[in-house]
Amino acid sequence: MAVPREQFLSPVWRDGIFENKVLFCTGGAGTICSMQVRAFVALGGNACIIGRNPEKTERGAADIALVRPGAKVIGLVADVRDVKALEDAANRCVKELGSLDFAIAGAAGNFLAPMAQLSSNAFKTVMDIDAVGSYNTAKAVLPHLVKSAQKHKNTGAAQPTGTGGRIIFVSASFHFTGKPLQAHVAAAKAAVDQISHAVGIEYGPYGITSNIITPGPIANTEGMARLSKADPESQKKFAKKIPVGRYGQVKEIADATVYLFAETGSYVNANTLVVDGGQWRVTGAADSESWAYPDFLLSGAVVDGVAKGGKKSKL
Ligand code: COA
Repeated sequence: MAVPREQFLSPVWRDGIFENKVLFCTGGAGTICSMQVRAFVALGGNACIIGRNPEKTERGAADIALVRPGAKVIGLVADVRDVKALEDAANRCVKELGSLDFAIAGAAGNFLAPMAQLSSNAFKTVMDIDAVGSYNTAKAVLPHLVKSAQKHKNTGAAQPTGTGGRIIFVSASFHFTGKPLQAHVAAAKAAVDQISHAVGIEYGPYGITSNIITPGPIANTEGMARLSKADPESQKKFAKKIPVGRYGQVKEIADATVYLFAETGSYVNANTLVVDGGQWRVTGAADSESWAYPDFLLSGAVVDGVAKGGKKSKL
């Protein structure tokens, strides 16, 4: 059964904006990336999703195709650590669907482990999948993206054929600050960010835009299931500490994707779109009983010792 549209797309976007365009997405059967691809396909595009597991990838492709009658979504098997396999997949995508206009480097590997339990090979494995895999993805798709960018010029004015030549890297935010049990992924995602910036800088002159989407705590995702072992009560407490006061939805990552791929994102390049309700900025918020965030702010209490009487102004 097709995933209902309201679960992966806000109703603000115009149907057909990605007509005759093709998206190449690594990790496309995953819980976040599959929704990004669904949004693109629902708005008129076709797609190739790339995965390591043949069955999961084919099932994912068939399921995504259900969002629009006539949609073509192909599942291709490749390990992102193998650049030749990715180049073959990109060429096959162009052969079968006619072009490769957009890409998402979404494949990633993660698990919780302190450095004391993280072998050199375990560290390297995640670096290879996340960082080298993202670089390989860029290498495999860039020749095709440049062709698309030449066809669909980014002039700032509306183009009759729409946009093309854009790539998004899916990253994280815990390396902005630091997090225990994530030395491997934090290092890999920091590299992913710099790869995206490099693509934006070096290929921007060819009409390409490259940006990062950084999902925060998004409900009902594989990442949350793997990385958050919290019980429901702790999850509620955690959600309260996010400035927006809740977990995110996969739809909110898909909307960000459409924003960057459509005309709305034409002047956004070599940048990071953090979709996390403001969560990473409060990782340093005081957490003692008397200063707990956000209760202290909401309580109306004043902070003692503030100069000039520290009178509270009205909201
Ligand atoms: N803690 C510590 N080390 C771990 C580990 C864990 N939970 N899981 C794997 N490793 C180590 C292995 O022991 C091995 O190191 P060693 O040779 O020193 O023993 C190394 O990592 C490679 O493991 P392997 O299973 O051979 O790698 P793989 O390529 O088959 O799998 C992973 C890649 C490890 C990232 C695996 O977790 C995976 O495939 N995940 C699926 C995708 C995913 O993680 N998605 C997350 C989305 S948030």
